[in-house]
Amino acid sequence: MDGVAPNAVAAVSEARQWDRLMQMAALGAIPGDGVNRACLTDLDRQARRLLLGWGTALGLAPSVDALGNLFLRHEGTEAGAAPVLTGSHMDTQPNGGRFDGIWGVIAGLEAIQALREAGISTRRPVELVAWTNEEGGRFAPGCMGSMAYAGFKPADTWDGVTDNEGLSFGEELRKHLALEADIPRRGLGVVDGPAPFAYVEAHIEQGPRLEAEGLDIGVVEGIQGSRWFVVEIAGKTDHAGTTPLSLRKDAVQDMLRAVSALNALMADPTDVLRFTVGRIEVHPNTSNSVADRVRFTIDFRHPDKDVLLTRGDAIARVVTEAMTTCTATVTERFHALPATFDPMVPAAVEAAAKAQGLSTLRMPSGAFHDAQFMVPVCPTGMLFVPCRGGVSHHPSEYSEPGQLAAGTRVLAAVLAELANR
Ligand code: GLV
Ligand code: MN
Ligand code: MN
Repeated sequence: MDGVAPNAVAAVSEARQWDRLMQMAALGAIPGDGVNRACLTDLDRQARRLLLGWGTALGLAPSVDALGNLFLRHEGTEAGAAPVLTGSHMDTQPNGGRFDGIWGVIAGLEAIQALREAGISTRRPVELVAWTNEEGGRFAPGCMGSMAYAGFKPADTWDGVTDNEGLSFGEELRKHLALEADIPRRGLGVVDGPAPFAYVEAHIEQGPRLEAEGLDIGVVEGIQGSRWFVVEIAGKTDHAGTTPLSLRKDAVQDMLRAVSALNALMADPTDVLRFTVGRIEVHPNTSNSVADRVRFTIDFRHPDKDVLLTRGDAIARVVTEAMTTCTATVTERFHALPATFDPMVPAAVEAAAKAQGLSTLRMPSGAFHDAQFMVPVCPTGMLFVPCRGGVSHHPSEYSEPGQLAAGTRVLAAVLAELANR
């Protein structure tokens, strides 16, 4: 193996990778250098076609599964050997940036191209994957593609989930797959076939540590747990000028009580816990009417399973007890326990980075990723590169071309090494 990986590392092109990222960033560009490319939209399809064009021009074999997860395969020399899988997602947040997700896909393509240009054959195939709907911005929750691939949930679990326009995930997926009917279909992950040998995902850090400590590569050891809930509060609409406060069932006022009570539940002097109310919908949403309905989301994360379970399980009770005149229902729609990666891939990432003279930090991921659902499927790992100010899920999200190329060189070496095991 020594002797082949260095050639692949040298074949990684910083300029080509950056150019591809900027071509992708044009699909859904929004002011401030951001991107809004929601999953299963025409923009998402254009991004997939662009990727397919690059991949098939290289000679990679495309395929798509029942969730729309898109694959490009670099063949190995040993028939039947389990592939090494790499990739990430191509959808973005509505007010997203140019690197979250898409860099892991472009980095995987660049690393495979580098292997091929260096004339390296690997024993195992290397497959690139672009997972469907990691962000959960259009259809909640995120990670639908990887959850279904890993058999964590049945493929039809989210068919009835609707977007803001009332379009359902199931129907949009059906339309999407019809538009991709020219791409060979494959079975759905480990539900229909064998597991990959390993999964490696490259991603920007989305936090401040690597930049603050002046380090090149994050060796990710695991991902904290996440739970998503939707709270629906029902009251009564009344005239804002005539109805005495004592007679109201004001859903906004009870929402404020619920959020205050949740802030108390989620208080954490160590500042490890993450609690976010990120979306609030009010009905009828007009200045001079009392609101009869409020719907708000909760994103709750913690690295400790017990905290995640204890406080998460208390949410429904705390919300219900906070109601004075209204009623509330709480629905959980995403539940990912903290995941610890098998040491195999982190060790390979660390060794590759060190061999290239790069500085590393072993660290957990605060963001969730498709890698979380691959943990029970095969040895899994991630590598992070720094991003400016730790900013992500925002148009100003930025990593330098050289930082991204360094990450891709590590990825190329890791893929070459794992694919020859
Ligand atoms: C992923 O986008 C997350 O919210 O962690
Ligand atoms: Mn991401
Ligand atoms: Mn994201």
